[in-house]
Amino acid sequence: MEEKNKDVLILAIETSCDETAAAVVKNGREILSNVIYTQIRLHTVFGGVVPEIASRKHIEKINPVIETALKEAGVTLEEIDAVAVTYGPGLIGALLVGVAEAKAIAYAAGKALIGVHHIEGHINANYIEHKDLEPPFLCLVASGGHSHLVLVKDYGKYEIIGRTRDDAAGEAFDKVARAIGLGYPGGPKIDKLAREGDKYAIPFPRAKISDNPDDFSFSGMKSAVLNYLNQCQMKGIEVNRADVAASFQQAVIDVLTEHTIQAAKRIGIDKVAIAGGVAANSTLRAQMEEACRKNRLTFYHPSPVYCTDNAAMIGTAGYYEYMAGVRDGWNLNAVANLKIGERKK
Ligand code: KG4
Ligand code: ZN
Repeated sequence: MEEKNKDVLILAIETSCDETAAAVVKNGREILSNVIYTQIRLHTVFGGVVPEIASRKHIEKINPVIETALKEAGVTLEEIDAVAVTYGPGLIGALLVGVAEAKAIAYAAGKALIGVHHIEGHINANYIEHKDLEPPFLCLVASGGHSHLVLVKDYGKYEIIGRTRDDAAGEAFDKVARAIGLGYPGGPKIDKLAREGDKYAIPFPRAKISDNPDDFSFSGMKSAVLNYLNQCQMKGIEVNRADVAASFQQAVIDVLTEHTIQAAKRIGIDKVAIAGGVAANSTLRAQMEEACRKNRLTFYHPSPVYCTDNAAMIGTAGYYEYMAGVRDGWNLNAVANLKIGERKK
């Protein structure tokens, strides 16, 4: 007979980009292990992620990473209730490694299989350390591939209210970093260098979208930085890289903060969260915290390790899907351009 009120244990797998990650999550919000093998060093020499190299490294690392996650959690495969895996969006070859692995484990061990949306995972990272956080809340998701304002109506229920029209915020960070010779990934490097610069030194534009105040545009900001660098070169002026980093970062953060606060006030929601790699940015966190305080909004943010790609967030999202009765079949496939909230029920 099945035990009542039994703990639910999820083994989660994430391989959508350049992190091979596995985690064991208990009852949605308790992280028993969170193992991340980052491939960043491999891709740095190319100035960005090389998809085929990412897939090949995932296939090499996935088994040891999962083994370590189970060992650190002190849990056996038999004790797991379900295997949750990122099935999109992301690099298709990279996603396929995780999906095939999750299917093989779930099939062999006779466990439930749950495909998780990567961005929904990022949003769910907020539940891990904020045990009191419940939907509804507004979440700014800013990563290397996405910039969205998402209204989390309930567990597993998402409505996109704003999105980028061109580059993602993280992508702009990466491109500007490359232009000033900082290398990949640019976000953390700009974050660090900006501390030594003057954020008012160069007035980079803050783009507004006339037909939807909740949408974003970052390509104009990136171009303004490139133009500025070209002009300096033509005039023989030495570039102060710290000032460029600080001024560019401030322009991005002003837009992200302003849009989020305005949307929250207009919708009438009093809880605001941030997620995704860019949410690890120290200035964004501080500015968002201050703006929320001024506007009497409660601010939630994951620790940096849960902002950038990890499997714990996939386990948390997978738990709420599991509790809602979502189960995937053995025909689960990877979807490179999967939309938020587009469930396969
Ligand atoms: O969420 P993530 O790890 O992967 C995607 O799903 O894309 O986000 C990676 C992105 C990269 O563009 C990286 O430069 C950016 O997040 N990032 C940051 C910081 N840490 C990572 N951007 C700004 N400041 C940071 N501290
Ligand atoms: Zn991500």
